[in-house]
Amino acid sequence: MVSRLESEGLDSATKQEAARGPKDLAPTIELISVSKRFGSAAALSSINLKFEPGKTTVLIGPSGCGKSTLLRLIIGLIQPTTGEVRVEDQVLTPENILDLRRRMGYVIQEGGLFPHLTARDNALLLARHLRRPRVEMHARLAELCELTRLPETALARFPVELSGGQRQRVSLIRALMLRPEVLLLDEPLAALDPMVRATLRTELKAIFQHLRQTVILVTHELTEAACLGNQIVLLRQGHVVQVGTFAALRDHPAESFVSEFINAQQGLPVL
Ligand SMILES: Nc1ncnc2c1ncn2[C@@H]1O[C@H](COP(=O)(O)OP(=O)(O)OP(=O)(O)O)[C@@H](O)[C@H]1O
Ligand SMILES: [Mg+2]
Repeated sequence: MVSRLESEGLDSATKQEAARGPKDLAPTIELISVSKRFGSAAALSSINLKFEPGKTTVLIGPSGCGKSTLLRLIIGLIQPTTGEVRVEDQVLTPENILDLRRRMGYVIQEGGLFPHLTARDNALLLARHLRRPRVEMHARLAELCELTRLPETALARFPVELSGGQRQRVSLIRALMLRPEVLLLDEPLAALDPMVRATLRTELKAIFQHLRQTVILVTHELTEAACLGNQIVLLRQGHVVQVGTFAALRDHPAESFVSEFINAQQGLPVL
């Protein structure tokens, strides 16, 4: 798939993307008995999770519960201490990770832009590396600026010259640039003001539904989780507490922690 997309160029990839039918979806990602330790500390313990093609999974849970670690395992930046990560039928290994990673778009928690590159160069980095057609890529960039409401004038600036929300949008643009089949988004809307956040959330939902990617998104916002997630995974201290729809978590909590977590946000005083 990677070589097919890369060798045939974006034009063809776009057609393939548009022609993708229900039988030719983004890959399933599976974590099988995955644990991750950093020294003596367990960041994740015995995780079994399946991320279905075309579905959006939202990871929620208190700070430090292992959400970012889970994404980093899937993109292969770190290796599981035990267990395995599978992308379709392939176990992720140091040998195949580079190929598999090209099918994934990743927005890291702090955006991860290179400070010495302009927003435009950041966004086009991988496209240039893969020698994608220049004109197509610039058209795609303009399209994504419009979608994320980033003024095109901002593209000439360096990350330090952008607002936090603009930086986040550039990170999102970079992740969407090559129309990845898998999207891993670590708090992609965190630095945005509430109105832009709500707009972009709606637009992200439309993008996910249209492109039928396998999406895994981390957020601290329950509204975002409920709006975007086909399934929600609630983590605590490296363990999965409950997997299900927002309604299932709300109406049939697996344990008291689930209700406490939901009520903590729903009970926020209206200022
Ligand atoms: N490289 C590392 N070395 C040591 N400990 C780490 C490392 N990365 C993460 N941890 C620890 O693993 C645990 C899980 O971290 P992780 O970043 O996955 O949490 P998180 O759920 O994303 O939190 P937040 O909501 O604050 O972003 C934390 O206790 C963290 O300190
Ligand atoms: Mg995190």
